[in-house]
Amino acid sequence: MKTPTISTLIFFLFTVFSCSCAASADGNVHGFLLCLKEEFQNYSSISSLVYTPINSSYQSVLDFSIRNKRFMSDSTPKPLVIITPEYEYQVAPIIYCAKHNQLQIRTRSGGHDFEGLSYVSEVPFVIIDLLNFSEITVDAEQKTAWLGAGATIGMLYYNIAIKSPKLAFPAGFSPTVGVGGHFSGGGWGVLLRKYGLAADNVIDARIVDVNGRILDRKSMGEDLFWAIRGGGGSSFGVILAWKVRLVDVPETVTVFTIYRDLDQNATQLIHRWQYVAPNFDEDLFLRIVARRNVSEGGRMTIRAAFNSVFLGGVDRLLAVMQEKFPELGLVRDDCIEMSWIQSILYNTGFPIDSLEPLLDRYQPDVGYYKGKSDYVQEPMPISGFEGVWRLFYEPEGSEAEFLLTPYGGKMAEIPDNATPFPHRAGYLYKVHHMVFWEAKDAHNAHKYISWIRRLYRYVTPYVTKSPRGAYFNYRDLDIGVNNNEGPISIATARVWGAKYFNKNFNRLVQVKTRVDPKNFFRDEQSIPPRRWWTGKEDI
Ligand SMILES: Cc1cc2nc3c(=O)[nH]c(=O)nc-3n(C[C@H](O)[C@H](O)[C@H](O)COP(=O)(O)OP(=O)(O)OC[C@H]3O[C@@H](n4cnc5c(N)ncnc54)[C@H](O)[C@@H]3O)c2cc1C
Ligand SMILES: *[C@@H]1O[C@H](CO)[C@@H](O)[C@H](O)[C@H]1NC(C)=O
Ligand SMILES: *[C@@H]1O[C@H](CO)[C@@H](O)[C@H](O)[C@H]1NC(C)=O
Ligand SMILES: *[C@@H]1O[C@H](CO)[C@@H](O)[C@H](O)[C@H]1NC(C)=O
Ligand SMILES: *[C@@H]1O[C@H](CO)[C@@H](O)[C@H](O)[C@H]1NC(C)=O
Ligand SMILES: *[C@@H]1O[C@H](CO)[C@@H](O)[C@H](O)[C@H]1NC(C)=O
Repeated sequence: MKTPTISTLIFFLFTVFSCSCAASADGNVHGFLLCLKEEFQNYSSISSLVYTPINSSYQSVLDFSIRNKRFMSDSTPKPLVIITPEYEYQVAPIIYCAKHNQLQIRTRSGGHDFEGLSYVSEVPFVIIDLLNFSEITVDAEQKTAWLGAGATIGMLYYNIAIKSPKLAFPAGFSPTVGVGGHFSGGGWGVLLRKYGLAADNVIDARIVDVNGRILDRKSMGEDLFWAIRGGGGSSFGVILAWKVRLVDVPETVTVFTIYRDLDQNATQLIHRWQYVAPNFDEDLFLRIVARRNVSEGGRMTIRAAFNSVFLGGVDRLLAVMQEKFPELGLVRDDCIEMSWIQSILYNTGFPIDSLEPLLDRYQPDVGYYKGKSDYVQEPMPISGFEGVWRLFYEPEGSEAEFLLTPYGGKMAEIPDNATPFPHRAGYLYKVHHMVFWEAKDAHNAHKYISWIRRLYRYVTPYVTKSPRGAYFNYRDLDIGVNNNEGPISIATARVWGAKYFNKNFNRLVQVKTRVDPKNFFRDEQSIPPRRWWTGKEDI
């Protein structure tokens, strides 16, 4: 055998190296990292924030904010690079370098996206993970707060509570939800009937656009500011921070959770709830979480949890319930008076005597799930609910949930084009369908997913139609997706876009066309721009 000469070796290395360079993804990553080195004069100051698969911590940084185990498998496409910036000025060079190396960006704040869009992509991509943008400043006197996009709602609640027991913010339940995704997609919680969505209470924002400019409300313009309060952030840039208006809550609120099985008239009570809950006093929020359960006699049943936070004391609550919903049979012993922040802990299932758990963004028990959503404008008949229960009795329904959130109150007062979120006046409640499964069933995920699709088909006659409504923050790729590469057809995007945004979809397209005409910020459900070279609405 001939020993290779230096020149054949060099030729060999050159071929391998240049081939791997040309082989898109690897080459792009190489170019991307070189570009970052050029963009940051002092690269050493950020190299510790840049993770590629060779770094031993890459996997743990990736997994840390994954909130759905469905997207934590070996077959889930992985980012080529994860960057966890610490300062605002570090974001623009990342966008610049990604753009110039044909890499897509996924921005992640809290990682709760139901379909994992903040950390999964079918095309070569990098993650900007904002978990370290979590600074919060609360001004209790002005009743405002600035918060980094990577902060969690638990951190926000904590920081408000240590300043004042009478201030709050209308956002969601789970403390680990990130404000970057949550506020840009709407954000609802127990205060929605009194104060609307989180997005309704955003008064300023900071965003990096596709050209690397850092813009605030004034410099971004009212149309972009409108778009990012409900239209999702990922179509428009990287949101850095929000300024929000805090809202008043009484020093004492009252909570209760009471359960009713089918043999305690659960179905009749849920049916009745549709007529009363959207019309209650704004201070009363009463939602329903229905699950399968086993009754005392050992029979399978449906158990509905009636879960409430009332902005006031127990006496007034009992009077309201006695007048408006006596059938539920609420009694004083079911009710607990507590502070607002304790009600957050209570609804999360934490002990109510310590605020510290609100700060913890680590979530130990991440599950496998698929969620979908619907809106209801006309009460469902009893028979409709009975059909839902029959599906819940099937094997895949064992861990499923049927969650009903009442609208009305402030939600009905806000015009449906005030923000991109269109489901306002005339909407009685939102339905959230959820199915969970265990690790041992990971390979059977398709069974659970087809079960929830069957449930979704089953409720079709009872929910909003043309378009069927859906909640953007309960991301569901079943309702339609964009193509991953090439221009995105507006007509195709409208299939899912109208469900989330109804008529507001058109204005979102207009904003997108102005701020990101070449469609750099894109994903399976991002707003497409109108194509500038044809001016055509549809392709
Ligand atoms: C356990 C759990 C509980 C939930 N509870 C509620 C609830 O009570 N009420 C409610 O309304 N919703 C709730 N949700 C849904 C939640 O509001 C959405 O999943 C929301 O998008 C999560 O935001 P995130 O930052 O954690 O998610 P991420 O996965 O980080 O982001 C979600 C989307 O927003 C984009 N995005 C994130 N940050 C930015 C940014 N800074 N700039 C631009 N784009 C960005 C991402 O790219 C992605 O497209 C819950 C979800 C889970 C998993
Ligand atoms: C580069 O950044 C590091 C880390 O922030 C810092 O310690 C160092 O002084 C910087 N060097 C220069 C030349 O700015
Ligand atoms: C990843 O590895 C590179 C190369 O060794 C190093 O420069 C960088 O600092 C590492 N990143 C982290 C987050 O440790
Ligand atoms: C970023 O946040 C993580 C999680 O809170 C923390 O462990 C890490 O030290 C932070 N990194 C920096 C550079 O601040
Ligand atoms: C169920 O409803 C019926 C009539 O509507 C009533 O007679 C009965 O007492 C109720 N049962 C319970 C357990 O509330
Ligand atoms: C049944 O419901 C109760 C709450 O009422 C709950 O503690 C229990 O875990 C449930 N059982 C099942 C099998 O879901």
